[in-house]
Amino acid sequence: MAYQSIEVRKITPTIGAEIHGVDLSQPLGNQQFQEVHDALMDNLVIFFRDQKMSIDQHKDFGRRFGPLHVHPNAPITFKEHPEILVIKADETSRHVAGEEWHSDVSCDPEPPMGSILYLTEVPPDGAGDTIFANMYRAYETLSDPMKKMLQGLTALHDSTKAHYYRAKATDRDEMQFPNAEHPIVRTHPVTGRQGLYVSRGFTLRIPQLKKHESDALLEMLYRHVETPEFHCRFKWQPNSVAFWDNRCTQHHAMFDYFPHRRYGHRVTVCGDKPFHRPSQTA
Ligand code: SIN
Repeated sequence: MAYQSIEVRKITPTIGAEIHGVDLSQPLGNQQFQEVHDALMDNLVIFFRDQKMSIDQHKDFGRRFGPLHVHPNAPITFKEHPEILVIKADETSRHVAGEEWHSDVSCDPEPPMGSILYLTEVPPDGAGDTIFANMYRAYETLSDPMKKMLQGLTALHDSTKAHYYRAKATDRDEMQFPNAEHPIVRTHPVTGRQGLYVSRGFTLRIPQLKKHESDALLEMLYRHVETPEFHCRFKWQPNSVAFWDNRCTQHHAMFDYFPHRRYGHRVTVCGDKPFHRPSQTA
């Protein structure tokens, strides 16, 4: 694809590109917006360096792509900005958000289309990377009989798996833990491509199968998602931004920096109900 208003540098042939020539603190003109959107569709996750955004500018950039999502059970840090999810780890952290492979908030009936993470503090020695995986490739590289079998199946995604045990016991009664059933093979609403949509972070079971069948099949798919050829690994610097498409990627946050500090804000763009439209070829 030829871009006029931005420069797009792929970081692997499969997934991920750095975008240059954009100042995210400024409103994007129509052409730049369209090209950033196209770069996201082409590369699944895009990265920006050396950005300086206020909370309002971060939210404005997110809103260009759709209404902003409020996390169902993450604590609200800024009362006037419930859409800001704080991503923070320090010497008191035993876990961090997103340590398990996942697509954000897939427990929602209408999970977010994308997430935009802006980190202002990163740990030393190159720690705290995020790894992203291409779910189109995960689906496309399965055998034809496996693809056929998955086409008719759904999976239950449950917030208790991802969030319940991480929440403070005293907060749980006040919190919501949504769950939702989604097709295992998800058709991307923009590109029309098929992707695998189950994750170790959120998926509980495949209701059409017996429990031991569901456990075995899901374990095989989770391990498949971990295939390095589907991945890119992003090395954060202060003031980097990553924007990923939750409909066709999963990610995994590396927690290899305890007791150091890592800090940033995420805005999350609302999405639509996942659907499966069988393709002609699979
Ligand atoms: C997340 O949004 O899952 C966290 C990703 C990260 O901290 O790298």
